[in-house]
Amino acid sequence: MTLIETVKELRAWRKAAGRVIFVPTMGALHEGHASLIREARQMAGPEATVASSIFVNPLQFGPNEDFDRYPRTLEADLALCQEAGADMVFAPTVPEVYHADRSIQILESSLSKALCGASRPGHFDGVCTVVAKLFNLVQPDEAVFGKKDYQQLAIIRRLVRDLNFPVEIHGIETVREADGLAMSSRNRYLSAAERAQAPALYAALSQARAAWKDGVTGSRRLLEILHQTLAASASLGRKDYISIVDRHTLQPLDLVQNNGLIALAVFFDKARLIDNVELIR
Ligand code: PAJ
Repeated sequence: MTLIETVKELRAWRKAAGRVIFVPTMGALHEGHASLIREARQMAGPEATVASSIFVNPLQFGPNEDFDRYPRTLEADLALCQEAGADMVFAPTVPEVYHADRSIQILESSLSKALCGASRPGHFDGVCTVVAKLFNLVQPDEAVFGKKDYQQLAIIRRLVRDLNFPVEIHGIETVREADGLAMSSRNRYLSAAERAQAPALYAALSQARAAWKDGVTGSRRLLEILHQTLAASASLGRKDYISIVDRHTLQPLDLVQNNGLIALAVFFDKARLIDNVELIR
């Protein structure tokens, strides 16, 4: 596995690489990231190249968010990338990616208004800007993203459509701990008591999904089920949002026939956890 830290080296590498499948990350890697890289390896077969990136992107963090304390674990991350089947990892510094006087960026003006975007203004503009730059640098044929960050996945699909990036986007199922908690680099911020309550998020989502499968299609009733379960078993959590939306447009739904998404974000003191389930027939 090759480690590349500069744009110049990356350009040279790209000239020699054939078909490339790309998995962008911010590091602090866990089994969720590993499953994305393994999927990319499967898609690539022995011929194509699997590239990953590790870059904590300052543009997507708000002024009071965790950019400074975001975990940086490069050695362990590289071992995980290699074990999962990556051929190359691009791990640049911030000045290598952003010029001090940079003056051009990407703004997303629709899908980012809801869900996480509502409480994290500018976040998805930062994501779009860095992903566009990474696509221009790595020039992948395909790229793999997790459904854990469902809004991000929808916005990346929009980015590729609206700016004509020649990249095929794949969405991969969320990897969970044995008790259902979605794996996240931010789970390490949880205290023992919070960690014990955190599986309630997925339990509530699963319960609402089961009710939907049993014929409860009204969002109001589904939201009641979610609120009740969370109130009963996640007392340390403070709700940011719980929404039922169309999984493509992210617009709120009153009635879910098909192609719905239940998405939520809950604060546990220092950690903001997100999770979601699809409502698909
Ligand atoms: P990061 O949070 O490191 O996530 C990198 C990729 O891993 C994303 O596509 C995310 O959805 C996926 N992922 C995270 N946890 C997962 C889980 N439990 N199961 C499956 N996939 C999971 O998302 C970002 O970084 C950044 O915003 C990035 C796209 C790299 C741009 O900076």
